[in-house]
Amino acid sequence: MVRPYAVKGLKRKKREVEESEEDDEKTTELGGEEEDERKENEAVHDLPGIPILPSDEKSKAGVIFILERASLEVAKVGKTYQILNSDDHANFLRKHKRNPADCRPDIVHQALLAILDSPLNKAGKLRALYVKTEKGVLVEVKPYVRMPRTFKRFCGVMLQLLQKHSISATSKREKLLRVIKNPVTKYLPVNSRKIGLSHSSEKLVQLRDYVAAASDDATLVFVVGAMAHGKIDKEYTDDFISVSGYPLSAACCIGRICNALELKWKIL
Ligand SMILES: C[S@@+](CC[C@H](N)C(=O)[O-])C[C@H]1O[C@@H](n2cnc3c(N)ncnc32)[C@H](O)[C@@H]1O
Repeated sequence: MVRPYAVKGLKRKKREVEESEEDDEKTTELGGEEEDERKENEAVHDLPGIPILPSDEKSKAGVIFILERASLEVAKVGKTYQILNSDDHANFLRKHKRNPADCRPDIVHQALLAILDSPLNKAGKLRALYVKTEKGVLVEVKPYVRMPRTFKRFCGVMLQLLQKHSISATSKREKLLRVIKNPVTKYLPVNSRKIGLSHSSEKLVQLRDYVAAASDDATLVFVVGAMAHGKIDKEYTDDFISVSGYPLSAACCIGRICNALELKWKIL
């Protein structure tokens, strides 16, 4: 269970956010396997600092993100279950005839931070966020969750999520992260416009103009790949676009989407 997170006032919230930031710094400072393991266990039991979004958001316009094909795979390595990654588990993966380059949970970590930390989200425009893993597990991420900043702690939280199927803020009994049933399309509003992103698309657009032209009556749903290689499933998308002449990282693409929407909705 995640430790209760009761926000009783701004002072308390500020203090807790400060504490969590200090904690992050300590994580990078401290060394030693035991200390790392202790920190990792702590991270699994505590999602620090959940900012509260502004409640004066009146416009219905908003955005939904779907991160497709995220590399989040649990395996028993030695005596413990872990989220596989290409750095720490290269030998394990080779032994199991897997290409280490395919195990890149850092991509979805960076993509989530790019979305959740954006001014767009802070302004309350993120309607929903979904992650679908390579194995087809669909996860709903609440827009106000504060993701762990360090990769190790992120993996700890993802491990707990995939094993227990949810992570709650116990003070509100609300599930901040939870595994939900497929397909993702059943959670999308009827008026949604689903836009898939790939460098391989022949439709190269200037994203600022593209989103500026989109009607605020439709909820824009951006589908971005969170994998190292390959393409997203474009079957359920209404449009399939490329946003640069260069192959970009998922986090960079998301940065472009957020910037374009922040310009459109005058978010500074
Ligand atoms: C590391 S890339 C995956 C590479 C993959 N070959 C591709 O282009 O789809 C992660 C994701 O970023 C997005 N992406 C990367 N470059 C892009 C571009 N120039 N235009 C649109 N989307 C892009 C795609 O959604 C892609 O799935």
